Amino acid sequence: MTVNAPLEFKVCSSNQRTTAKDREAILANPGFGVHFTDHMASVDWTADTGWHNARIEPYGPLMLDPASSVLHYAQEIFEGLKAYRHADGSVWVFRPQANAARMQRSAERLALPPLPEAAFLDSIKALVQADKDWVPSAPETSLYLRPFTIANERFLGVRPAQKAAYYVIASPAGAYFPKGVAPVSIWVSEHYTRAARGGTGAAKCGGNYSASLLPQQEAQKEGCSQVLFLDALEAKYLEELGGMNLFLVRQDGSLLTPSLTGSILEGVTRASLIELAKDQGRSVEERKITLQEVQAGMASGEITEAFACGTAAVITPICAIKGRDFIAGHDDAPAGELTMQLRKALTDIQYGRAPDPHGWMMQID
Ligand code: COI
Repeated sequence: MTVNAPLEFKVCSSNQRTTAKDREAILANPGFGVHFTDHMASVDWTADTGWHNARIEPYGPLMLDPASSVLHYAQEIFEGLKAYRHADGSVWVFRPQANAARMQRSAERLALPPLPEAAFLDSIKALVQADKDWVPSAPETSLYLRPFTIANERFLGVRPAQKAAYYVIASPAGAYFPKGVAPVSIWVSEHYTRAARGGTGAAKCGGNYSASLLPQQEAQKEGCSQVLFLDALEAKYLEELGGMNLFLVRQDGSLLTPSLTGSILEGVTRASLIELAKDQGRSVEERKITLQEVQAGMASGEITEAFACGTAAVITPICAIKGRDFIAGHDDAPAGELTMQLRKALTDIQYGRAPDPHGWMMQID
């Protein structure tokens, strides 16, 4: 029987907290994904009991049975969202409901138990409140939150696990790319695809990301920062980057982005930018886009800008798209004007510098 009672997070504070001096040194130069706060949120799940044992506990290693299904069959999903400190010291999270909903969709695809939205939101609130001193205040910094669910049943048979756990860890973050918001070049993978029709491309699961690592390595060998995948069926249409969605800007100021075909991740930043662009009266077209039309459009000047977007890097300008036998754009092209205008519009809302007409921000503290 599954218990559906609301979960209450019991707080067990760490008695080995990072000193204020060490924390300030980390926050002064946080990097991305290298430092972690003093606590984490955890909730257990079994098929018999449902979700239970919600707690905020000291950050630390997990005890996993070596036969845990996540270690063998990658039954795992995750999310990424950020907490921002506003100028008055208050702390806010951007669109956590959207992440909660996407995590439920990912859970369904990976045959994992969906966490109720209220428990997701409470886990975020409880962890950020416990570690609020870790939310940095310098420009372009935030506290990156990483919720994830793993199957931890001790069983080697291939079937959905009967035991799982949900966690949230938090990491102070600066720029995702070492060069900050400088334009990057991207490499179109010739041999590898990210997701096939009917696969897990629309789910945020670790397997999609591990499959992108070899092509990502190939992109780096070609002098590019990111890999761009084409569709698996015809190798003709743009899909997404290793961990980010893609947008193109046309001469008339309209936007074009690959439609959600089932093999593309429905990015929260992607959805937000579509709304912001529409608020500005721009047309945004979501459709299948061929690589060929991008090459032609960039050569003719019809496509004037390209950018990648995601929670971690927000918006990253793209200066060139390259492949085995072509280069569209060039390595020293500057960041596009609309690219940077949209980046500012979004980050102004996130950092509380502009009104939040869509009610995207949730106050934590
Ligand atoms: C994002 O920016 O949304 C991502 O998914 C990148 C993350 C996996 C580091």
